[in-house]
Amino acid sequence: MSVHPITLSQTGFVHRDELTYPFEERGLQFGDGIYEVIRIYAGASYLLTEHIDRLFRSAEAIRLDLPFSKQEARNLLTELLNQNEMTSDGIIYLQATRGSAPRVHAFPGDVPANVYAYVQDMPRKTKKLTSGVSAITQRDTRWENCYIKSLNLLPNVLAKQAAQENGSYEAILQKDGKVTEGSSSNIYLIKDGTIFTHPATKHILHGCVRMRVEEFAHDLAVPFVEKAFTTADIPDADELFLSSSTSEIMPVIDVDGIQIADGAPGSITRELQYQYEQDAAITHVNV
Ligand code: PDD
Repeated sequence: MSVHPITLSQTGFVHRDELTYPFEERGLQFGDGIYEVIRIYAGASYLLTEHIDRLFRSAEAIRLDLPFSKQEARNLLTELLNQNEMTSDGIIYLQATRGSAPRVHAFPGDVPANVYAYVQDMPRKTKKLTSGVSAITQRDTRWENCYIKSLNLLPNVLAKQAAQENGSYEAILQKDGKVTEGSSSNIYLIKDGTIFTHPATKHILHGCVRMRVEEFAHDLAVPFVEKAFTTADIPDADELFLSSSTSEIMPVIDVDGIQIADGAPGSITRELQYQYEQDAAITHVNV
């Protein structure tokens, strides 16, 4: 894997070693900021417009002024890929915070946002995409505005750590028994040929891949029902899968040690994976 050292900052393109922030920084001290993770395949971004649209929705929700328009953001991120001579699979990580200022809770006044974005290699998880992964359930202890892609990720971090310590890939979050989403993904259950997933309310992140899953389901004539399922429904599921920019459409074959159906990725999940690869113009062999 190669290092891609050119980083986009609020002052332009700089080498990553030159990028420093004072410790009185709103993202560091309050988590007062937002972020995006954008998938790159063979050097080209996937769902860039959707991610930028969501970044602007998050910024509006927390009343943060971004120092660029949507079109400028597109151009800057494309330039970031070019400057790093990106040709591999990877991600762009982008974050914007309410800037550097002495620590007081309220907004600091006329302080510009701190923004940075960098590129990192990330191969596709082809083995897991083929065989499926396990998950555990965890209580969703997050706040009411999970549609904002906020830097405040402590509940997500703790849930993912619990999953990892259990040898699992993801933590499926539940509120009063209803599955909201994963610690860093959206979650879907398939029963009798219908896909169920939590509605796109304020209680989940409106995943960019989720938007595509809905379209793929429509194209495949598979009903896509935005209705929360419960943890009690999981053992009877025909198929279960999760989606995210880093995990794509990932089959879940075991939850809390209980096998889903025959323990292999189901046929609808595999059809959705195929649609995803077509849509993202992925040409590499999925081993
Ligand atoms: N996470 N839900 C949560 C809580 C997430 O953090 C993510 C993405 C998703 C899926 O969103 P999308 O399809 O737009 O990637 C759902 C990113 C990958 C992360 O934090 O690393």
